[in-house]
Amino acid sequence: MSQIITMHSYRGGTGKSSTAANLALLLASAGRRVALVDTDIQTPCLDVMFGPAGAPVRRSLTDYLMGRCEIEDAAAPARADAGHDGLFLVPARSRAAGVNEIMGRGYDVGLLREGFDRLIDSLALDVLILDTHAGFNNETVTAMASADALVIMTRADRLDLAGARETMALARRLGCHRLSVTVNMVPDGGIGERLRGEVESAYDTRLTAVLPYAPEMSVLAGERLFSTAYPQHPLVTGYRRIISAVSNGTSGIRR
Ligand SMILES: Nc1ncnc2c1ncn2[C@@H]1O[C@H](COP(=O)(O)OP(=O)(O)OP(=O)(O)O)[C@@H](O)[C@H]1O
Ligand SMILES: [Mg+2]
Repeated sequence: MSQIITMHSYRGGTGKSSTAANLALLLASAGRRVALVDTDIQTPCLDVMFGPAGAPVRRSLTDYLMGRCEIEDAAAPARADAGHDGLFLVPARSRAAGVNEIMGRGYDVGLLREGFDRLIDSLALDVLILDTHAGFNNETVTAMASADALVIMTRADRLDLAGARETMALARRLGCHRLSVTVNMVPDGGIGERLRGEVESAYDTRLTAVLPYAPEMSVLAGERLFSTAYPQHPLVTGYRRIISAVSNGTSGIRR
């Protein structure tokens, strides 16, 4: 049975893409066939995280949505040093696919869902991970609606939490019953009971994982993925916790 995992956050910069990339890598290293789709057409990044520096993207999600290729043509094995055969990447944009074109011309949103399903079939995937643009644009809402498991990323910050009610209302309307909430970038010492309570009551769910702020990530400067460089780090333990919650269906437990 294949599974679609969608990463979401109300505000930008919460760690969706880094987490998506590391979850994909960890799942692939456990022998699962995984594809990662960058639906963040406005501000893509997965091609940079996985690609060799400066390597041109030949085909992308945008090329598919513009009718220039099939979705399968936009999926390429992730870079060799990821070290796993069963890991594929669909970048958001190629050089030929400018953001102005897709924003100006628009596209048939139904193609997105169709493309996700086609990828699962043609690549015989166990897991499809959808990285999204923050907030609620067309691609993000479609990715949320397609999710078997919605992974919500937040910081323990009032600005981020201000979006919780809207996110939860939309998730409910879209029928996302299996959702998990992860707090990222928590400084040393953990989250504290009061803050944990605030986050859990904002999302009306128990937290799946509390991920530490890892200064090592900025030292890596995006040159390697975190779980490859620091496999024993508590942050990677947190990534594994998300995977097991999402795979066991233990996420989204009501308080
Ligand atoms: N646990 C962490 N500790 C330290 N830095 C982190 C952590 N998680 C993510 N980061 C850093 O925070 C920045 C934002 O992360 P990322 O791009 O993954 O967020 P995002 O939610 O995908 O952002 P956007 O909404 O812009 O797409 C990156 O520089 C990343 O390296
Ligand atoms: Mg991102």
